[in-house]
Amino acid sequence: GNGQILRVSVIGTGYLGLTHAVCMADLGHQVLAIDVDAEKIAKAARGETPFFEPGLEPLLRKNLDAGRLRFTDSFAEIGEFGDVHFICVGTPQSKDGTGHADLTYVFGAAEALAPHLNRATLVVGKSTVPVGTSRQLIDRMQAAAPAGELVDYAFNPEFLREGYAVQDSLTPDRIVFGVTGESAETLLRRVFDTPLSSGIPGITMDLETAELVKVAANSFLATKISFINVMAEMCEASGADVIKLADAIGIDERIGRKFLSPGLGFGGGCLPKDIRAFRATAGERGVGSLVDLLTTVDTINLGRRHRVIDLARQALGGDLSGKRIAVLGAAFKPNSDDIRDSPSLDISGRLSDEGAIVSVHDPVAMANAKRVRPELRYADSVHEAADGADLVLHLTEWADYRAIDPAALRATVANPVLIDGRCTLDAAAWRAAGWTVFVPGRPAA
Ligand code: UGA
Repeated sequence: GNGQILRVSVIGTGYLGLTHAVCMADLGHQVLAIDVDAEKIAKAARGETPFFEPGLEPLLRKNLDAGRLRFTDSFAEIGEFGDVHFICVGTPQSKDGTGHADLTYVFGAAEALAPHLNRATLVVGKSTVPVGTSRQLIDRMQAAAPAGELVDYAFNPEFLREGYAVQDSLTPDRIVFGVTGESAETLLRRVFDTPLSSGIPGITMDLETAELVKVAANSFLATKISFINVMAEMCEASGADVIKLADAIGIDERIGRKFLSPGLGFGGGCLPKDIRAFRATAGERGVGSLVDLLTTVDTINLGRRHRVIDLARQALGGDLSGKRIAVLGAAFKPNSDDIRDSPSLDISGRLSDEGAIVSVHDPVAMANAKRVRPELRYADSVHEAADGADLVLHLTEWADYRAIDPAALRATVANPVLIDGRCTLDAAAWRAAGWTVFVPGRPAA
């Protein structure tokens, strides 16, 4: 590639935006990022990330030090600066019960930016949005931008996973360019010149297809997880082993072993809200079969949480009240401190509602967990959580938990009973140390 340095602005410095800003700077571009949250901006400018993401903070500091990355609170400055503007604000599930994505922040960013677009530039949507949103954005922005038709628009979805954000963003499987014309494509290809020249495929399409690619990918992943989870139920009903089954079907390249890990299903800030928003859009467009599919995927997913609660109740003789339960893991998945729609915290809260005394441990997500579930107890170590426990629940598969010595932990608990909700502990080793172990979808040895 020609390695041309561009002036890239990033609007929104949450998970998506901050990672994108840092990675754009790391590609060599001059980056200016903005957020309405002054504290976030101040923190980022000091080289601190407001969330736990392996590798992001050092890269933030490196690019701040190199002078490639700056932060501002002024949209006028952003408008003046950017050859390309990426909109990276959140699209949470709306609170109206419809499942629709709340587009307030996307349209808010567009309205704040548009009056400052005085010359030819490119506005790129990156936030996950319902199909059709980019067109609406163009209509609103073009009318409000002084440069009018000189402003180009594109949609460039992001596929990064929390915990692997830097790697996924710098070396994604593919880069999708949703564009209305050649000029937008050319400029976007210059922005991503480095990854494209290293052989990462760039796929160009219309705006609507690009918007759908993002939600289709997340819906497929969610469906895959719910599929393996219904197989777990089937295995349990048949005395079969879902892990062996996943390994065996996963070898077929058409299926693939990734995202076939059974357990508690998907949580987090993306998959659950994305399939609900997609279902709402499909309903509006009269695509009932898609509504049905996604409803089933969601129902199966939430059912996993109830399954673990039922197992816990059974393991404790039918009544949870006054029982001491140690919960290992609070984050929605390992390598993250994100507790949004965390299956673990959802289960912990329900157990506590039924009268259990729940003590939660997590290597990094404790502070976030305390904020949303102050009624639970929190322990600084696995042994402290398990002290006097009637039951241990393994609900987030941190590598730390695979290193637990089951014999040592046995001496701490009142009753050596384990439910491995994530199917990742060495059940044989725990059993050998005297534990009764339940693993959903696997035979009770
Ligand atoms: C997901 C997608 O994987 C990303 O590609 C996408 O960019 C992102 O959403 C987004 O839309 O922003 P993320 O939510 O960070 O990324 O987490 P995943 O690693 O996908 O895990 C999602 C959930 O599925 C977790 O709760 C995880 O425990 C669960 N999961 C995952 C399973 O239960 N089984 C599996 O086999 C895999």
